[in-house]
Amino acid sequence: MSRDLILGIESSCDDTAAAVVDADGKVLSSAIATQTAIHAEWGGVYPEFASRAHVESIIPTIAQALAEAKIEGRDLKAIGVTRGPGLIGPLLVGLNTAAGLGLGWNLPVIGINHLRGHLRSADLEQKRVRYPAIVLLVSGGHTFLARMESPGAIALLGSTRDDSVGEAYDKVGRMLGLEYPGGPKVDRLAATGAASFPFPRPLLGDGLEFSFSGLKSAVARQLERAPDAPPADIAASFVESCMTVLLTKCRRALTRFPSAALVIVGGVAASPQLRAGAKALSDELGVELCLPPLRWSTDNAAMIALATWDYLPLADPPRAVPQLNLAIGDY
Ligand code: KG4
Ligand code: ZN
Repeated sequence: MSRDLILGIESSCDDTAAAVVDADGKVLSSAIATQTAIHAEWGGVYPEFASRAHVESIIPTIAQALAEAKIEGRDLKAIGVTRGPGLIGPLLVGLNTAAGLGLGWNLPVIGINHLRGHLRSADLEQKRVRYPAIVLLVSGGHTFLARMESPGAIALLGSTRDDSVGEAYDKVGRMLGLEYPGGPKVDRLAATGAASFPFPRPLLGDGLEFSFSGLKSAVARQLERAPDAPPADIAASFVESCMTVLLTKCRRALTRFPSAALVIVGGVAASPQLRAGAKALSDELGVELCLPPLRWSTDNAAMIALATWDYLPLADPPRAVPQLNLAIGDY
């Protein structure tokens, strides 16, 4: 067995994930223990329960990833582990497990920024992203636009001033009585309604920054005024506002910074509405559209393993005391 394989570990929020990925982005295995059922009744992620569930799942999840890849720990070249941002308890479970395994297997352990993992996720199991690229990252915790000259050269163009779009989706889902995480359910409901409510389109005419808290409040106020408003029409109107803002900002970024590709990553990149809108926009502007396959849009460890390859030249070769480089994966 060649040693050109990396084990990625992700535990920043409510999924315990482990994956084995080669240097070309081929995913040999990906195991995820999801905690959705544990958090559903709280309407959001309950950090203490998340930490406890990670403690229970992390070793079985890693064992499953190694077994499915048909390798053992000593066949690996390195371990990459999410070092943040995220919930501190869940992060510590992943970091300490990775550190222990690295010491036991004599492997370098590299800390990876979770967002860098998302930014690299469009390269998993498909043709490589063409650079320079405009990247829209839309997740539960973050929303920003960046320009990437290469996998390692990332310049932030604009981010949200308040909530992320995923958070707005989840809160609107809760207002409509949908279980956490509301994002996919809001999209499905929206597809059956009409965008008949004129919700705001925050910062539409203004630069490359985002704001979603006002839109969230507008939905809440509308539901207070008219609790019997058809939920599907509320969802459709909310999604329409989000899409208009996200796609207008992508268009503006691509016009200001001509690029070869538009890349959209993070949990909300799973949205069929966003995928369809991005396809129309990229066709119109003549840029390549790079979307991760659905399973790599939401949190996973394959993206962490792939991002680890970018740092491997910085890690010392395995030696008596392996390098635990848990602080380098920033962007
Ligand atoms: O990237 P991710 O899995 O975790 C974070 O790093 O935050 O993103 C999770 C977010 C949640 O807000 C979830 O509701 C949203 O992604 N999401 C979606 C869809 N699938 C997941 N939002 C809209 N449409 C979807 N199909
Ligand atoms: Zn994420």
